[in-house]
Amino acid sequence: MLSKELNELLTRTGPDTPMGQFLRRYWLPALLSEELPHPDCPPVQVRLLGEPLVAFRDSAGRVGLLAEHCSHRGTSLYYGRNEAGGLRCIYHGWKYDVTGRVLDTPAEPPGSTFKARVRHPAYPTYEVAGIIFAYLGPRDKQPLFPAYRWALLPPEHVYVTKSLLECNYLQGLEGECDSSHLSFLHREFTDAPLQQLLQHDPAPRYETEETDFGVRLIALRDAGGGQTYVRISSFVYPTHCWVNARATEVHFYVPIDDTHTWRYDLGLIPERPVRPEDRHKAGEIGPDYRRRRNLRNHYLQDRRKQQTEDFTGIEQFFVEDACAVETQGPIWDRSREHLGVSDQGIIAVRRALIAAVKGFQAGREPPHLVRDAARNHFEHIDAVQGCIPAGSDWREHFPWLAQGVVRTRRRR
Ligand code: FES
Ligand SMILES: [Fe+2]
Repeated sequence: MLSKELNELLTRTGPDTPMGQFLRRYWLPALLSEELPHPDCPPVQVRLLGEPLVAFRDSAGRVGLLAEHCSHRGTSLYYGRNEAGGLRCIYHGWKYDVTGRVLDTPAEPPGSTFKARVRHPAYPTYEVAGIIFAYLGPRDKQPLFPAYRWALLPPEHVYVTKSLLECNYLQGLEGECDSSHLSFLHREFTDAPLQQLLQHDPAPRYETEETDFGVRLIALRDAGGGQTYVRISSFVYPTHCWVNARATEVHFYVPIDDTHTWRYDLGLIPERPVRPEDRHKAGEIGPDYRRRRNLRNHYLQDRRKQQTEDFTGIEQFFVEDACAVETQGPIWDRSREHLGVSDQGIIAVRRALIAAVKGFQAGREPPHLVRDAARNHFEHIDAVQGCIPAGSDWREHFPWLAQGVVRTRRRR
């Protein structure tokens, strides 16, 4: 349970809120590369942390992310002409480059220096792994882009999808930090090995580790036969998680505003190029990045399947996750909940986020911002799973996860 004050602190992300300012210190996914498929293509409306923006790719292929409303008199630049190295407003023809410089004010008299005196709000971008990231914070605080493992892989080893969640970002994020729902929400009435493991012990023991990147979440289940099934995932500041899916996946939850969220799922397959079947979520998502199965059509839940095939009667894990968190409401009131032992992961992640935001309010630098290129490597952020001999320490089996630990907590 959280007090109403702490719930507000964590869930409000507008420009004037503590969490909003905290999130703006990090590189955040803003849109997919495929939304700007070629130089001079049509611009795209982007809403990020409550701010209306327009993204465009200029003639040289550079990506600009500008405030949506023209600095002249506010017409939306989304309708603008993307031509010859800049985006031109359709009202009076003002033209901007990707950095927000005014290149042209054709309605002003010849020789006017007006354009040199106006600077349009623009945010830096960084394009990698099929995602265009943006930094919305103060310019003098801009961190390096973190060299995560997925950011270093060749593009053919990475896949990405984007889908709309109709609720606050924290609900999506908390769904990732909760291993116990796997035995219920994602239960299938099959004898597949993973399903058998999850059913054998539906009440995992948890350990959590505060680390230099966020929180490492360890769920330990009795697997029978003298074995323990270990699942380890990683919450990484500010709002993403490394998890075990069909491949190792990184799930980002990015506030559009306080009641809508973009979920980005990035899969990494170091050992081989991505195959079409790895992109299994893509067929569930329409061209507007809304799921075909959504809140308005009750996720196309099939009550017959719910009796015979799986726990929910809903297709696809990520749709089940969406049903679980969207039906909590636009912003779940955490003062009304009843947390149990199985919520230890969520408690640890909230504790970390609250401490980080309060520290930031008190003037401290947010955690996990990269300033030093020599220390920009993160082999110890990972998601792993496997069976180990019961009674042995999981650390012996995944030694690269021994770094970065600040504090460990165990329950039961
Ligand atoms: S409002 Fe954009 S040029 Fe006038
Ligand atoms: Fe899930």
